[in-house]
Amino acid sequence: EKGGYDYFMLKEIAEQPKAVADTLLGRIDASGALTLDEVRIPQSVLREADKVVIVACGTAFHAGLIAKYAIEHWTRIPCEVELASEFRYRDPILDQQTLVIAISQSGETMDTLMALRHAREQGAKVLAICNTNGSTIPRESDAVLYTHAGPEVAVASTKAFLTQLVACYLLALYLGQVRGTKWADEIRAVVRDLAQISGQVDRVLETMGPVRELARSLADKNTVLFLGRHVGYPVALEGALKLKELAYMHAEGFAAGELKHGPIALIEEDLPVVVVVPSPRGRSVLHDKIVSNIQEIRARGARTIVIAEEGDEAVVPYADHLVRIPATPVLLQPMVATVPLQVFACELATARGNEVDQPRNLAKSVTVE
Ligand code: F6R
Repeated sequence: EKGGYDYFMLKEIAEQPKAVADTLLGRIDASGALTLDEVRIPQSVLREADKVVIVACGTAFHAGLIAKYAIEHWTRIPCEVELASEFRYRDPILDQQTLVIAISQSGETMDTLMALRHAREQGAKVLAICNTNGSTIPRESDAVLYTHAGPEVAVASTKAFLTQLVACYLLALYLGQVRGTKWADEIRAVVRDLAQISGQVDRVLETMGPVRELARSLADKNTVLFLGRHVGYPVALEGALKLKELAYMHAEGFAAGELKHGPIALIEEDLPVVVVVPSPRGRSVLHDKIVSNIQEIRARGARTIVIAEEGDEAVVPYADHLVRIPATPVLLQPMVATVPLQVFACELATARGNEVDQPRNLAKSVTVE
């Protein structure tokens, strides 16, 4: 049932192009417009929402962090993202105009469920993004947008994460479409690009040999740091989470702009630092700032592992290891940038002799608070 792979995780990583394509299937019509009538949430609710609040845990929370950039950019609706376990204990401000999005692969995570119950009690509308048909979270929500990743067996979430991102993009674009934002042209272009993304994930998967080799060479390290900016920041957090849970290594993700506010003190000779580089197109200021971050940490001895778009030559002189990803629109980059980090963590775990599909102390769905 592992389909020839040693681990479910490897199988599920490989299934990502299909999971992404399946999650898009039937949701974009021939004219390039989004058709999400299936969520059965009245368009008036989507038009009148004046705030979006996303609640989730773990990897799903990282999908939510990325969704915030997309939702605010494409719809201009303020969006907050909060760990479900923190949310209801701080008396959050919610009303009928608040659209709460609960993201959960399993649909059974207790913290997320309690957060959505709390939100509904305050009169907010809750839309679930979920991978498991008929599970508790979608049953208790006002609406649901299913991801079609298929069953995810490995404890560490991979294909579910990519499909959560797809669902978030679809929802953000749909909100933009329904509300007729001034980004209509950009939205149409992104919908077209989204249709290409499954093929791009496939291309990333074909080039993972050197990433695996690199991971094996780092098996005796104690710490790996991850840096990113803009949507690359949640990608860094996700890369670090994967490494913690699978390789049992100390791993931390930072916003690259925070380096000089503390984390740079951690840099020492030969410390592996993974850097997710934003596209040099689009918001090129961020690209240039990250290139100087890479220079700074390398000058202090870090071993730089740079994930950068094809054709980005500015990073070459400062990359001890360079991982190429295809060019995508800025907001979609996490779809391709996350994949090498999944492979990296999986291979490091294997090299360290860990149980990849069933990491110690973890359960696939966390049904207690
Ligand atoms: C990490 C991981 C967990 C889950 C989290 C939420 O690889 O799998 O962090 O993402 O427990 O689970 P769901 O999405 O089922 O609510």
